Amino acid sequence: METYYNNLLENNKKWVERMLDKDPAFFERLSHGQQPPILWIGCADSRVPANEIIGAQPGEVFVHRNIANMVIHTDMSMLSVLDYAINILKVKHVIVCGHYGCGGVQAAMTNKPFGLIDNWIRHIKDVYRFHQPELDAIEDETTRFNRFVELNVYEQVLDLAKTSIIQTAWENQQNVHIHGWVYDIKDGIINDLEITLKNNESLSKVYQLDL
Ligand code: CO
Repeated sequence: METYYNNLLENNKKWVERMLDKDPAFFERLSHGQQPPILWIGCADSRVPANEIIGAQPGEVFVHRNIANMVIHTDMSMLSVLDYAINILKVKHVIVCGHYGCGGVQAAMTNKPFGLIDNWIRHIKDVYRFHQPELDAIEDETTRFNRFVELNVYEQVLDLAKTSIIQTAWENQQNVHIHGWVYDIKDGIINDLEITLKNNESLSKVYQLDL
């Protein structure tokens, strides 16, 4: 394990060499600032690294990750990332990327307590409740789990659209698209759920802000 740790900094030096080989001005250019077109909201799971799975370079993706890629309206960290991405960086696309086999979503399907994290997982249980008739009707447990992962992404896309940050951007004619994806850790393929939102019209009326 010590060797593993020590190798990290060695790996970093080798990575810098490789990057400079390909593009001697790479770090110098990035040091002037960032203009990423994408905000990524993903799961903290170590198997779903944002940049790597979409072949993006440093500077291309502004990233927020937490357990089960949640958009929780009292999460100051998520709101600050969203505000900065939309209002300062002016990203064009916000991608919520969940993944099949998500431990957070799986935990939400059970009644097992896990400690402090139960308070986070409770928000995922709300998604189950919103879609209970559909989910309860799926007999096969894996199929139900996969569908729950997809519905959780769908609800987080809606939750992004409900924020005053996104609705204000839309009201100001800022072109922001919100997408929902699910990554499959078994084969590396991303499933586009094709639920892209470009305005607040598909939100229930009660969430639409008169800005
Ligand atoms: Co996960």
